[in-house]
Amino acid sequence: MFISSLAMLALLPSANALVRKDGVGRLPALGWNSWNAFGCDVNEDKIMTAANEMVKLGLKDLGYEYVNIDDCWSMKTGRNSMTGRLMPNMTSFPDGISGVADQVHGLGLKIGIYSSAGETTCAGYPASLGHESLDAETWAGWGIDYLKYDNCGVPSNWTDQYNFCVPDGSGNFPNGTCPNLSNPAPAGYDWTSSNTFKRYTAMRNALLGEKRTILYSLCDWGDGDVNTWGNETGNSWRMSGDISASWSRIAAITNENSFKMNYVGFWGHPDPDMLEVGNGDVTDAEARSHFALWAAMKGPLIIGTDLDTLSQANLATIKNEYLIKFNQDPVVGRSAHPYKWGYNPDWTFDPVHPAEYWSGPSSNLGGTLVLMLNSENSTATRTAIWEEIPELKGGSSYHVTDAWSGKDLGCVKSQYSSTLASHDSAVLVVKGCC
Ligand SMILES: *[C@@H]1O[C@H](CO)[C@@H](O)[C@H](O)[C@H]1NC(C)=O
Ligand SMILES: *[C@@H]1O[C@H](CO)[C@@H](O)[C@H](O)[C@H]1NC(C)=O
Ligand SMILES: *[C@@H]1O[C@H](CO)[C@@H](O)[C@H](O)[C@H]1NC(C)=O
Ligand SMILES: *[C@@H]1O[C@H](CO)[C@@H](O)[C@H](O)[C@H]1NC(C)=O
Ligand SMILES: *[C@@H]1O[C@H](CO)[C@@H](O)[C@H](O)[C@H]1NC(C)=O
Ligand SMILES: *[C@@H]1O[C@H](CO)[C@@H](O)[C@H](O)[C@H]1NC(C)=O
Repeated sequence: MFISSLAMLALLPSANALVRKDGVGRLPALGWNSWNAFGCDVNEDKIMTAANEMVKLGLKDLGYEYVNIDDCWSMKTGRNSMTGRLMPNMTSFPDGISGVADQVHGLGLKIGIYSSAGETTCAGYPASLGHESLDAETWAGWGIDYLKYDNCGVPSNWTDQYNFCVPDGSGNFPNGTCPNLSNPAPAGYDWTSSNTFKRYTAMRNALLGEKRTILYSLCDWGDGDVNTWGNETGNSWRMSGDISASWSRIAAITNENSFKMNYVGFWGHPDPDMLEVGNGDVTDAEARSHFALWAAMKGPLIIGTDLDTLSQANLATIKNEYLIKFNQDPVVGRSAHPYKWGYNPDWTFDPVHPAEYWSGPSSNLGGTLVLMLNSENSTATRTAIWEEIPELKGGSSYHVTDAWSGKDLGCVKSQYSSTLASHDSAVLVVKGCC
């Protein structure tokens, strides 16, 4: 008895997940956010356009539900001097945030808001450190369903005692250690005694104090060893620095997150940041790989582009039903894992050439998802060999579907090869023997 409960503890390092009503936060969130599309230039019109497009384009029918307003929605000049509450900018949001929430709810969607665990947001607007309860109450009163909580504006007496290594693209360190980190924590340091943990936990407690269920999305950029306490604190937690609309950032974040897949489970999801499909220099092939990797890693899928102008190719990518089904599995909590690095020897930490071969089981697909990435700068072939794939070992022939085209590839013996353009990927649904 004693032995077996110890063994259980060892298997479930963070068993206290943030469990919410109606399954909110059990699976990765699906939605849209204003930042990657519009930055600080956000208003009611843009939010409602995105919400309406989510319905019109069929994204809502696929499960995309959150319409999230990022930074710059409030009065930059400060809080209400009488009540101390955050105030919407009524020039850009003439109906207030509650009025937008009503309209978004009227479409059958949910609405998200943004703040920071500091004195100011990243764009310099008033933020929530020290005002957690009042702000949670304000948002609940407006009908808010989701909070993205950033890590800017932290005053000096709230910084951490020790520095934490978030290697994120800055170097080629084995398994993401930072050899030259200044002021590192002593071995065995418990990061739940850090100020970062306290800042994020204060808001969790405030949200739990409200009757309304508000999904809690931590955005602390991987700091303070959040992977070890994110599950008890929020429903997702950013595990890296920000994404940008470029393949180099997509590849660097994929590389870093590939080492974090043991932290993925129901109610808790490392968040590789919002999608850049449709933005900047990201090509159609790169957008396919980006979306496929994010879905396979069971990260939140938060669209970050202007839906009004999204191309058909990119729309098809974010509507891929196989990948959405894999991401939203009600029975299997684990993500896909790399089963082979491919370009590099296994377990290599390389921001340019992340793990290229991934697989994971899926109840929704009734089989195994296999993803193969070409991380190189030119066309190359990648081959899925059944014997190398944990879920497929021991079988010789499988029924394969190409998840991009939906094409039935029939019964495939031993292995399947794809010739892939630079940064493109193949996604296969592999089912029981034929
Ligand atoms: C409110 O938003 C408008 C733009 O819509 C901007 O010009 C103005 O500076 C904002 N006011 C405050 C106090 O943030
Ligand atoms: C930082 O200072 C503020 C204002 O004096 C205080 O309320 C807060 O508790 C301090 N933070 C910490 C972590 O001690
Ligand atoms: C990286 O981590 C994996 C799994 O934790 C381990 O098997 C591997 O040996 C590590 N590699 C290095 C270079 O530390
Ligand atoms: C760490 O610091 C040492 C000494 O300053 C330097 O030689 C080495 O290149 C640094 N390593 C990395 C990975 O930055
Ligand atoms: C989070 O906790 C729940 C149990 O409450 C568990 O099922 C899940 O696997 C945990 N997730 C992680 C990432 O540890
Ligand atoms: C591919 O392109 C990236 C970005 O331009 C560059 O950093 C990298 O060295 C290139 N790799 C090869 C193998 O040419």
